Amino acid sequence: MTALVVVGAQWGDEGKGKVVDLLTAEADEVVRFGGGANAGHTLVVGGEKVVFHLVPSAALHSRPRCLLGAGMVIDPKVLAKELEVMSARGLLPEGRMVISENAHLVLPQHFLVDGIREAGPNPIGTTKRGIGPCYQDRAARRGLRAGDLRDPDGFRAKLADNLEGWRPVIEAAGAEMPDPEAIAAEYLALAAPIVPWLGDVGDELHRAREAGRRIVLEGAQGTMLDIDHGTYPFVTSSSVTAGGACTGSGLAPTHIDAVIGISKAYTTRVGEGPFPTELHGEQGEALRRAGGEYGATTGRPRRCGWLDLPVLRHAARVNGLTSIALTKLDVLSGQETLEVCVAYELDGVRRDTPPAIGLERVKPIYETVPGWSGDITGARSLDELPAAARDYVRMIEEAVSVPVSILSVGADRAETITLGDPWA
Ligand code: IMP
Repeated sequence: MTALVVVGAQWGDEGKGKVVDLLTAEADEVVRFGGGANAGHTLVVGGEKVVFHLVPSAALHSRPRCLLGAGMVIDPKVLAKELEVMSARGLLPEGRMVISENAHLVLPQHFLVDGIREAGPNPIGTTKRGIGPCYQDRAARRGLRAGDLRDPDGFRAKLADNLEGWRPVIEAAGAEMPDPEAIAAEYLALAAPIVPWLGDVGDELHRAREAGRRIVLEGAQGTMLDIDHGTYPFVTSSSVTAGGACTGSGLAPTHIDAVIGISKAYTTRVGEGPFPTELHGEQGEALRRAGGEYGATTGRPRRCGWLDLPVLRHAARVNGLTSIALTKLDVLSGQETLEVCVAYELDGVRRDTPPAIGLERVKPIYETVPGWSGDITGARSLDELPAAARDYVRMIEEAVSVPVSILSVGADRAETITLGDPWA
């Protein structure tokens, strides 16, 4: 088994960072395949907190190579800073990193337009990192790519064309057109630390695979934020599901061996959009407090709710999940009973999976299950968990027809129960 995809099974923030961190110990290559600085993972090393947005979670380890795939949108300012952090820690030796020449660049016009739209009548609740407008440029075939940082004259020419493309939007909003010369000067000055790492990520991954090296494809966001399979229009602008791992990295679908979906033991969402099991008022607040549910990128409080099994079934299908990593089980401790959404009702019809359109109209059908109490962070095997917590895990496996391979019972790397081989 050489290639393992890690995807979020809900609306992002499922704790992918910790799981990737665990898998990194067994990986030779860790590649991000989509999204940009809208993602964020907080890593604690030697008591110090480091937040990365672009480089894979593996960046703070010394061993696996870190790759940024073609499906990503890269903010050069953020990347230059993260490379600096890695370099200062001696984690950027020759050959440590490959940045796809094809990845698109997030530039000031993208931030500007993201902000204009979010201030308009139908905000998505984006992270305001310029993600949507950058992917829009990619689809319009007028974007600037990381490889363009190599060629200052070409960069300037493409930038001028690109800005003209945005002129009607910017002027209609009454905003000031960005100055192409100022952008070129600022961003070309950032090229020096980035250019040496540019390469062909797909080619590198194929070679790595042929050499039997183990590859982790690290997803960002979550299935319900996927541009095609999520709660459109309240989604991000990229393919965050397992299919996107292939298009965004260049590794072929037939070369993926396993797909692990990360799910919290409950549900959270940031930004606008439907969320059938959302808890309002004190119950939601209690879950937010217990789980420390505030965004790593924006600091926004996350919306919190009960576990939603239709969402997990959808994630299992669209990603072809071979196993699940269930995180934050410890956060649910101390509740007498728990509600679990087992299905929805839509227009009088029971559904086991989310409708493609109309999620805002579904009524969750709940089952009440026994809760458990006490600190479970010390458990290292299923037997050490209270019976009700064990039943909760088994219920999920049965409902989704996917085994749980990793069970996280606390933030620390050691606070983990391994139930199966995620690579299998
Ligand atoms: P954008 O990706 O910044 O355009 O935001 C679109 C939607 O995706 C918003 O609802 C964001 O809150 C959400 N989103 C984007 N990235 C993440 C993430 O890493 N975690 C959780 N939600 C995210």
